[in-house]
Amino acid sequence: MFDAKSYEGVRSRGVAAILIGQSRPMLEICDIIHLVASKRCTVLITGETGTGKEVIAKAMHAASDRAAFPMVSINCTALPSTLVETELFGHAKGAFTGAQSSRIGRFEQANKGTIFLDEIGDLAMDAQAKLLRVLQEREFERVGSSETVRVDVRVIAASNVDLEVAARERKFREDLYYRLNVVPIHMPPLRERREDIRCYSNTSSRRSAPPKTCLQNGWMMRQSRISRIWRGLVTSGNWSTPCKWLAS
Ligand SMILES: Nc1ncnc2c1ncn2[C@@H]1O[C@H](COP(=O)(O)OP(=O)(O)O)[C@@H](O)[C@H]1O
Ligand SMILES: [Mg+2]
Repeated sequence: MFDAKSYEGVRSRGVAAILIGQSRPMLEICDIIHLVASKRCTVLITGETGTGKEVIAKAMHAASDRAAFPMVSINCTALPSTLVETELFGHAKGAFTGAQSSRIGRFEQANKGTIFLDEIGDLAMDAQAKLLRVLQEREFERVGSSETVRVDVRVIAASNVDLEVAARERKFREDLYYRLNVVPIHMPPLRERREDIRCYSNTSSRRSAPPKTCLQNGWMMRQSRISRIWRGLVTSGNWSTPCKWLAS
């Protein structure tokens, strides 16, 4: 599947500057980014927390012909169910107590660009129905308004839970899952792509800090310990011990 020529294309458009890694899964992801960046198809990125799902979304936006327009990121976990619809779709003046003026939502902010819906598995059921309509019709109404708004937005969603399982358990709309999962991208954790550890540390030695990924991939290591490993690694060039610790 990976084709060095298309990866070069992605590189030249700046993806390599955003995404670090040379493992096969990472190169295949670069390949997919290259193939679909400028299409409007919805992308669903899955993987454990800290594996770089948001970085992939940023790389996809940067490589697309939407790069001059905004990429709007929204974390669905942080959205209280009472606010989710106004946040995503905006509201009309007087739509609820305190709505003294109308306000555009994240979808309108992202017009012509990309919206990144992080942790989509946590999206409230009502909002899931509305989102399905946006994906199907590319239109919606602001809360409290009957005027239909049309947008041209590329949707990238990310989840650390398996949405197929969530759909089977009726925790996530099945029809929405199929609408989102048009281009699936799965990012394996760093412990399953050991080759990337060297790339991360090469980059971080230039930046003189360990990559956050190592801290966020669920390894129970304190930052000070990682920093010590990193210093040792950078000065000695001996990879075997840190790789054993980091990738086990
Ligand atoms: N392949 C990668 N290239 C560059 N940075 C990465 C990569 N993977 C993870 N990171 C870094 O690790 C951190 C966590 O990445 P993030 O995209 O927020 O993970 P996720 O969204 O999967 O939880 C960020 O600081 C990000 O810059
Ligand atoms: Mg994230």
